[in-house]
Amino acid sequence: MRRILVTSALPNANGAMHLGHLFEHIQTDIWVRFQRMMGNECHYVCADDAHGTATMLAAERAGTTAEAMIESFRREHAEDFRRFLVGHDNYHSTHSAENEHFTAAIYERLAADGRTFTAEVEQLYDAERKLFLADRFVKGTCPRCGEEDQYGDNCQECGATYDATELGEPRSLLSAATPELRSSDHYFFDLAQFSDFLKDWTASDAVQPEVANKLAEWLTGGLKAWDISRDGPYFGFTIPGAGDKYFYVWMDAPIGYMASFKNLCERTEGLDFDDFWAADSEAEVHHFIGKDIINFHCLFWPAVLRGSGYRTPTKVHTHGFITVDGVQMSKSRGTFINAGTYLEHLDPEYLRYYYATKLAANTDDVDISLDDFVQRVNSDLVGKVVNIASRCAGFIHRGFDGVLSASVHDEALWDAVAQARHRLAELYERGDFGRAVREITALADRANQYIAEYEPWKHVNDPDRRDEVQGVCSLGINVFRALVVYLKPILPAMAAKAEAFLRVEPLAWEDAGTPLAGHEIGRFKPLFTRIDRKDVDKVVAATKAEAVAEADDEAEDDGAVISIDDFGKIDLRVAKVLDASFVDGADKLIELRLDLGGTQRTVFAGVREAYDPHALVGRLVVLVANLAPRKMRFGTSEGMVLAAGPGGEDIFLVSPDAGAEPGMQVT
Ligand code: MSP
Ligand code: ZN
Repeated sequence: MRRILVTSALPNANGAMHLGHLFEHIQTDIWVRFQRMMGNECHYVCADDAHGTATMLAAERAGTTAEAMIESFRREHAEDFRRFLVGHDNYHSTHSAENEHFTAAIYERLAADGRTFTAEVEQLYDAERKLFLADRFVKGTCPRCGEEDQYGDNCQECGATYDATELGEPRSLLSAATPELRSSDHYFFDLAQFSDFLKDWTASDAVQPEVANKLAEWLTGGLKAWDISRDGPYFGFTIPGAGDKYFYVWMDAPIGYMASFKNLCERTEGLDFDDFWAADSEAEVHHFIGKDIINFHCLFWPAVLRGSGYRTPTKVHTHGFITVDGVQMSKSRGTFINAGTYLEHLDPEYLRYYYATKLAANTDDVDISLDDFVQRVNSDLVGKVVNIASRCAGFIHRGFDGVLSASVHDEALWDAVAQARHRLAELYERGDFGRAVREITALADRANQYIAEYEPWKHVNDPDRRDEVQGVCSLGINVFRALVVYLKPILPAMAAKAEAFLRVEPLAWEDAGTPLAGHEIGRFKPLFTRIDRKDVDKVVAATKAEAVAEADDEAEDDGAVISIDDFGKIDLRVAKVLDASFVDGADKLIELRLDLGGTQRTVFAGVREAYDPHALVGRLVVLVANLAPRKMRFGTSEGMVLAAGPGGEDIFLVSPDAGAEPGMQVT
C-alpha cells in the first residue's frame, strides 16, 4: 500500500472561487479518489493563501480587518469545494499557528546554514500611503517601447520585462502620489547554492517533460537569489529578529501545505507528520498546480525543503489554463463563472465530468465551450452510460424478480470490460483522465450495441428465450457496474446512487474484475438528469450581472474623497412606498412603487433576501432622486433607495423618522 499526501495550490484569500480554481481541485480530487479506490492511503490537504499586500488592501477596501476577511473567504472557499464534492481532509489557512511555527523554523535553519543573506534594495515607495509598492500597484511608461499605462513588471504592448524602478513617470495606483525611490534591507534565499540539486531533481520523474524543459532553460540561465522579505506594513509573518520585516507571501505559502497537514495530524489518531515529511520519508508527496506557479513549486520550494532538512516532493503535476471559446475567462462575456453562481443553477457533477473529459497529463491550456459541456454530459454520460442501466433493469425486475443470472452471457464482452481496469488505472495514475473517459465511453458503446443486437424488449415474453433475455440484461447491468467503478473518482455522488440501486457495498477498483451473479438489484431510479441548456444560460446571465455590479463598485471606489459641491449634486428625497412586489426571474430584487409627494417612481432595490414586500408598503425610505434611469432586464429603475450593509440578508433600508413627508429633501 502506498502512503500518499496530496495538495492543490492554495487559493488566494481575497476573491471568490471560480472555474479556474475548480479545474485544479476537481483534477486533484479525482486523482485522490482514484488512489483510495486502489486501496492506497491518501490524504488530501489544502488551505487558503492568506498573506500579502493584495489581502491587506482588499480588506481595507472592504472596510474590515484582514483577519476577518480571510476567515470569511476561507469558510466560503471550503464550502464551495465541499459542494463540488472536492474532499479535502483539511482546509486550513496559511495565517495559522502551525504555519508561523514552520516558517520561522525553516527560515532559522536556512539562515544558520548560510543559505540566506541580506542586501539593500531600491524600490518605489508611496509616501502618502507609507508603503513600498508591489509591481502590480504601480503603473508608468514602458522603458522599452514607450507605451503608457503599463504595470511595474512587464509591458502588455511589447512584452518587455523590467524592474518597476525603470518605468517612466511612475504613479502609484493606491494614491495620487508620484512614488519616490527608497532603499531598505531585504532578506534573500541563495537559490544558486541549490543549482546542482535542482538539476538532478528536475530531471527525475518529479515533473512532466515539458516542465523539465522549461526548468532546464532557467537552470542554464543561472539562478538568481530570491527576495523573501517585504517591509511593513504587510499582512504576513514577521521575520524573527528582523524588526518591521515580513516574510514574502510566497515564502510561507507552500509551507502552508505542511501546516495544513500538521493540523490534520493533530486531530487524527495514528497520522504522523514525520512519516510524510522527514528527509528519509518513504511516503509520497504530490502537488497539483497551474503552470503560472511552476517556478515557486519546482525551484524555490524543493530547494527550501532540501536546505531545511525535509524531504522533497515526489511529483509536481502541472496543468494549463482554462480558456472559454478560445479566449480567457471574461466577466463581461459571462464566462468568468464563480463557483457559487454555477451551483445556483447546475449540478456539480456535470462540471466534474466535463473537466475530466478535458484533462490530460500535459500543461496545454484547456479550451472549454458551454455547448460542448451540454453535449458531452447529455449524449455521452446520460445517453450512453446511464442508459445501459435504465434499459436493462426493468426487464430484470419484470421477468426475474430483480435477480441477475448466475453466469456471464458473453464472455468476450465481459472480459474486455473487466480487463480494461488495468489500462484505465494507468491512465488515472498519470492524470490522463480525458483518455480514460473516452475509453469508458467506448465500452459503453459496445455494451449498447450488444443489447441492441439481442433486442431483449422483443423477446421478454418468449418462454424459449427467457434465459437469453436474463443473460443479456444481467451482463448489461454488470457492464454498467464496472463503468460505475471506472467513473467513480469523477462522479462520486452518481456512484453512490448506483451502489444503492445495485445493492452493493461501496465499490473499489478491483470490483470491476468480478461480475455480480445471482444477485438481487433494486429498482432503477434516474441517476442523472440531462442538462437543460436554459440553466447554463442563467449562469452566464448571472455572471454578466455580477460584472455590472462590480464595475459599479469600482467606480464608487475611485474618487474616495468628494467635495461639498460633489455632494450637492446628489438629490436625496424622502419617498413613501406605495407598492412593493417580487420580480420574476430576479431573486435579489424587489420592485418598489414610490411616492415623492406628487410624482411617482419605479425603483428596483436589491433587498429581497432581507425584506418581505408586504412589510415595506407604507414605509418611508430615502431615494437618490436624480440618478440617471437605468434599464434593467425587468424594466427601468428610476433612482436608488439607500440601504446599509454588505447585502444579501444583511441589508438595512435607511428610513427618516416619523414626521418626514414624501418629497422632502434630505441634506
Ligand atoms: N496563492 C497562490 C498559490 C500558492 S500555492 C502554495 C495562487 N493562488 S491563485 O488563487 O491565484 O491560484 C490558485 C491555483 O488556481 C493556481 O494553481 C492557478 O494556476 C489556478 N488557476 C487560477 N486560474 C486558473 C485558470 N483560469 N485555469 C486553470 N487554473 C487556474 O496562485
Ligand atoms: Zn513596452
